[in-house]
Order: sequence, then C-alpha cells, then structure tokens
Amino acid sequence: MNGLQAVKYTRGTLLVLDQLRLPHEFEYDNIQTSEEAFETIRSMRVRGAPAIAIVATLALAVELDNQNFSGATVLSQQEYITKKLDYLKGSRPTAVDLTNAISLLKQIVADAGRSAMGADTIRETYIQAAEKILRDDLTTNLAIGRYGAEYLHRQIFPVSSDVALESNGRKLSVLTHCNTGALATSGHGTALGIIRTLHKMNYLEHAFCTETRPYNQGSRLTAFELVYEHIPSTLIADSMAGALFAQRTKEKTIAAIIVGADRVARNGDTANKIGTYTLAVLAKHHGIMFIVAAPTTSIDLETASGEDIEIEFRPGQELTQISGVVVEGDGTIDKSKKVRVATAEQTIDVWNPAFDVTPHELIDAIITEKGEVVRSELGTFDFQTIMPERW
Ligand code: MRU
Repeated sequence: MNGLQAVKYTRGTLLVLDQLRLPHEFEYDNIQTSEEAFETIRSMRVRGAPAIAIVATLALAVELDNQNFSGATVLSQQEYITKKLDYLKGSRPTAVDLTNAISLLKQIVADAGRSAMGADTIRETYIQAAEKILRDDLTTNLAIGRYGAEYLHRQIFPVSSDVALESNGRKLSVLTHCNTGALATSGHGTALGIIRTLHKMNYLEHAFCTETRPYNQGSRLTAFELVYEHIPSTLIADSMAGALFAQRTKEKTIAAIIVGADRVARNGDTANKIGTYTLAVLAKHHGIMFIVAAPTTSIDLETASGEDIEIEFRPGQELTQISGVVVEGDGTIDKSKKVRVATAEQTIDVWNPAFDVTPHELIDAIITEKGEVVRSELGTFDFQTIMPERW
C-alpha cells in the first residue's frame, strides 16, 4: 500500500513512525523488543486502536525472530510468548484491539503446542499469525471504507443509483474527530478510510476535522493526512462543531459525523476519543447522522455496556502545556527549534480522561468490514449476524 505508513514491517524489522514529531518531522523508530513497543505505545508515539495492536504484536514477532532461544522447549517458548503478551496488554487500557489480538495469538500458540516438534515451530507460528494481523487490517479498512461510503450514500440520497450520483454530482460533507486514518492503522484507515473512499468515488463535498483537544490528534494527524491526500478539508476547534452544524451552505451542510472506536461494547455503546460523545449529542439535536467505523477487532462482546469500559486518564500536562516548533516572524517554520509552552496556570487541578463513551442510542450505524450494523428493534446493536463465531 502506498501513502502514509505508521508501521513498516519486514521479517525481523519493525519501523514505527514517531507520531509525536508530526506534522513537522517524519522519523521512524526501530523497535526491537516488547519493552520498546510498550514504551512507544504508552508515550503515544504510536496511537489509534488498530495500530497499537499491530505494533505490540509485531514487536514480539521481531523479538522472537532476532533473539537467541537455543535450548528453549515448546512449553518454555509458549510461556515466554504468553508472558510477553500479558505484559504488552498493560500498555494502554481502553482500546480493545490489542486485547482481542492477544487472545487470538495465545489461542494459536496453544493450539500449535499440541503438535509442534520444537520451540522454533512455536516461534514461526506466532510470527506468521502476527504478520497476518497486519495484512488483515488493511483488507478490513478497505472494506470498511467501501461499506461506509455506500451506506452513507444510500441513506443521504436514497433514490439515487450510483450512476445518477456520478452524473448529478450530489456530494456530501462530513465531519470526523480524532485520527482514524492510515497513521492509526496499517493503512487507509477506518472513519478516515470512509472519507478517503467517499473522495475516491467522487462523493465527497468537503471533510471537516476537529482539532481534538487536548492532545490534538485531529490537527496534528488527521489534518496532515487530509492535506497529504489532497482531500478538500477544513480544520475546526472542537468548540466550533455546534456552530458548524447550524450552517446551511453547500459545503458546510454536514450530512454525517464519522468517528472511529477504541472499544464497542456488546450493546453498541462506544468508547472513543474524548469529545466524541459531545459530537453525538450535537448530531442528535441537528438531525445529523452519527456513524462509528469499527473493525470487528474493536468490538468487545465480553463487555455488556459502556459502563464497564475502563477509561484511561492521562497526565494533566496534556492540557496545561503544548509542544511544537517555532514560527518565525515572517511566518516560516523552523523545524529545528522545538518548544514546549505552558498554556495554563501550572498548578491548576486537571481532569483528563482520554476517552468518553457514546451511548448506543446516539449511534445510527456501526460500519465494520462485514457491513453495516444498525440498531435492532430492541434499540441496541446486535452483532450476532456479523460475528456468529464469537457471539
Ligand atoms: O489516544 P489515542 O490517540 O490512541 O486515541 C485514538 C482514538 O481515539 C481513535 O479515534 C481510535 O483509536 C480509533 S483508531 C482507528
């Protein structure tokens, strides 16, 4: 896949783009161990639910490939992998993709242990399974993009055929929050993947992205991706969403809000970047569709509702300080001059939840790689049809 890549992987080598340096610098870190991956995830040099799972599981694959395990038995190799996976799970708590990937990999390694002749077979089985997670994520995102773009069209222009849409030029404007693009995944993206596909199909009028305070994933990452892809787009501060939704010009009439997910509970309640819930409430008031784009790896059938989702709290400095590079008097940017600036009284108490939960009642559809899921007659989301094997 061409274009932006958060992760570059070949057998034995894992390069991870340092997203803390974006949009000013484009540097990859060479990750060789589980410990380095843990730190990269915890410090948010890589972020986004699918990308976190990919980096954690591939880092262990690289470690298994490069380190010396002579003398290891099938059992000791299985125990090593299980211990490392349990450790990696603690890197960030809210996104469930990593937990789901770990359960899958543990199962594969346990199954392999029943017939493996040696520890090298266990390692190879693990490495191949982790590599498959990377490959599958891209296929998944392309499918989400396609299903999401088609679903939105059917909803917004119900009587139009694809041919009619192409010819009469009816297009839609959307808003997205946080970052869900190529940088948050293996490529293409989930919510931003739908926007990318809408654009490719010539169905997109305009994309708006929020700044996504406090950590600015929208302005630092999504804005960067939109500009990189030449998608017609505008950045707004989070607090401007309501005023934008009240607009009624061709470009600014928002047809849908499309967001990603860190964890979707069994009833459809969705944990995503802080500010998502606020947008969903505003969408309801303005009669705007609210769409969640989530691979099935972000769906957590073990968690009954949003009340049971653990929300990560982050350091107060994310609100009281900001980092960047120097803008000279003439407007040019000096990337070599990095600065960290205090933007608030430093002793003020800060409440900084990284995510919020949007109740399922406020969500119109959840777009997965297996198609869209809409609310059942009971009012909740029923994932049984798309995930019968995990139900
Ligand atoms: O704290 P972050 O930057 O990891 O949060 C990212 C988000 O909330 C994304 O919207 C979500 O993970 C979906 S990624 C496709």
